[in-house]
Amino acid sequence: MTSPATSTLVLTGANRGIGLELARRFLAAGGWRIHAGCRAPGHAEALADLAAAHPDRLTIHALDVTDGASVAALAQALGETPVDVLLNNAGVLNPHQSLDDLDFAAWEHELQVNTLAPMRMALALRPQLRRAATPRIVTISSQMGSLARPRSGSYAYRSSKAAVNKAMQGLAVDLQDEGICVVVMHPGWVRTDMGGSSAEIDPQESAAGIFSVATGLTLADTGRFLQWNGEEHSW
Ligand SMILES: NC(=O)c1ccc[n+]([C@@H]2O[C@H](COP(=O)([O-])OP(=O)(O)OC[C@H]3O[C@@H](n4cnc5c(N)ncnc54)[C@H](OP(=O)(O)O)[C@@H]3O)[C@@H](O)[C@H]2O)c1
Repeated sequence: MTSPATSTLVLTGANRGIGLELARRFLAAGGWRIHAGCRAPGHAEALADLAAAHPDRLTIHALDVTDGASVAALAQALGETPVDVLLNNAGVLNPHQSLDDLDFAAWEHELQVNTLAPMRMALALRPQLRRAATPRIVTISSQMGSLARPRSGSYAYRSSKAAVNKAMQGLAVDLQDEGICVVVMHPGWVRTDMGGSSAEIDPQESAAGIFSVATGLTLADTGRFLQWNGEEHSW
């Protein structure tokens, strides 16, 4: 038996990988009402199973985070609901990112999903975030975007995550007076479609860590770059 829902989570990319495990983790904790976005609800079987098991606590929304109308429709559906945590999890890592095989169109798409969309979501849900007692925006970034790690390759992905880090750092400054905490997180190297089978941790461990960090954040944490295990990440 879980406790009645008292807080609201909005989660993007909830149909597979880390996002699906985050939905499971917040449900398991009790006390959370989850609005789970995914591009194609008709193909999100695992997420649909969760919603069927928790009809009063998990609502699935068709959400393409690169589409302004789709994001606006979610904001409209939420109405005046206070949003305690916005978790920008949706992300892409396209192939063709080496110097010999650079796909610039794919790079632009990666910037749309990984960099622009978290800002679009944050701005669209700003009214609902303002209504919450302890509002938090958590954007899943990556160690691959850290300027402190001089690595090559994956140009599109690395630059899109470095850019979202900088955008969220600015947002943290701008939203501080509104009481909204903004952080970016590295979720670990995780065994998902993106991370691959030889990654270091499973999605359950990553999601458990992100849940613990996200739900413990206060305004004093705003502007931080954190890891799934709560440790600081270098910028
Ligand atoms: N796995 C790792 O090792 C790792 C490491 C560092 C950072 N990350 C970050 O962690 C986050 C989750 O990664 P993951 O490993 O769980 O990846 P994943 O298994 O590939 O899942 C990506 C999720 O993002 C969704 N998505 C992609 N484009 C979207 C769009 N335009 N609108 C809405 N949703 C969209 C996907 O939906 P569809 O099913 O519709 O494609 C899917 O739900 C990403 O931000 C990723 O960059 C992952």
